[in-house]
Amino acid sequence: MTTDPSRRPRVLVARKLFDEALQPLREACEVQYNDSDRSATPAELRAWLQDKQGALITGSERIDAALLDACPGLRVVATMTVGYDHVDVPACAARGVVVTHAPDVLDETTADFGMALLLGAVRQMGVAERYLREGRWKRWSADLFAGADVHGSTLGIVGMGRIGRAVARRAALGFGARILYHNRRRLDPALERESGAEYRSLDELLGQSDHVLLALPYSPESRHLIGAAELARMRPGSTLVNIGRGGLVDEPALAAALHSGHLGAAGLDVFEGEPTPNPVLLEAPRLLITPHIASASLPTRRAMVRLAVDNLLAVLGGKAPLTPVPAPGA
Ligand code: DGY
Repeated sequence: MTTDPSRRPRVLVARKLFDEALQPLREACEVQYNDSDRSATPAELRAWLQDKQGALITGSERIDAALLDACPGLRVVATMTVGYDHVDVPACAARGVVVTHAPDVLDETTADFGMALLLGAVRQMGVAERYLREGRWKRWSADLFAGADVHGSTLGIVGMGRIGRAVARRAALGFGARILYHNRRRLDPALERESGAEYRSLDELLGQSDHVLLALPYSPESRHLIGAAELARMRPGSTLVNIGRGGLVDEPALAAALHSGHLGAAGLDVFEGEPTPNPVLLEAPRLLITPHIASASLPTRRAMVRLAVDNLLAVLGGKAPLTPVPAPGA
């Protein structure tokens, strides 16, 4: 890439990220940096991207056909997230805009959090801590916040990609759990053996698991995959954990299942309408809810940004992207 500033590619970094991870981008490109840590409005994003060839975005920025039409010079959109439901991939493909994402580098950190959320939800850690802090604990009692067990349980994982498999490993090896899984495509036999997981239809998995963990991406087809009917199929007293995307779960139905006592507990790191949770969630009992932080260890978040930077530099330098999103329909 040229060092002549007038000929260097122009790139937008849409949110405040880690300065040191952005350094290679600054060396090769003219960088416009939104370091205010505030999501751009759609109008701002359109204005900022007007003269850019590259965009480094987070999950908060939406790239759609109207924006692409307003920014015809754009050649590459690199999201620092593994999920890319905020990018209209077919619209990008139709306009020759390359889209990259950040898989693999966050698997282990996200799986750690998946286990933490499962344990925290099942053992009611959030509710119990609030109870203590509010000065409501007066005496020890045998059944105070007594929940289910994770060790020796049956864990059903929906979405058996790399993150789902990393959760399976932890639960099987560390907690002696039996692992059932459901996936759009069944794993090949070698991978299935290695994961020690048994394939089930979604209905079977829901009916046979003590805890169900969602680790699949969002798409219009997976919207409200878990609604009232699916929740009713889950075992009485079981747990639902979501580290995928908010849109996978019908939230009023989940709240109702917690209020009725049918579900023992739930853990959500993602919800519809982020960053503002539906009030029905906040009123639901035995729900542990966190602000989309499953991949938020510092080393991992830095690695995600570095991968997005490497993708941008590759494409703007005329090379193949390192981690392109799968082609539409693949
Ligand atoms: C991802 O990378 O998709 C995580 O959910 C963080 O947004």
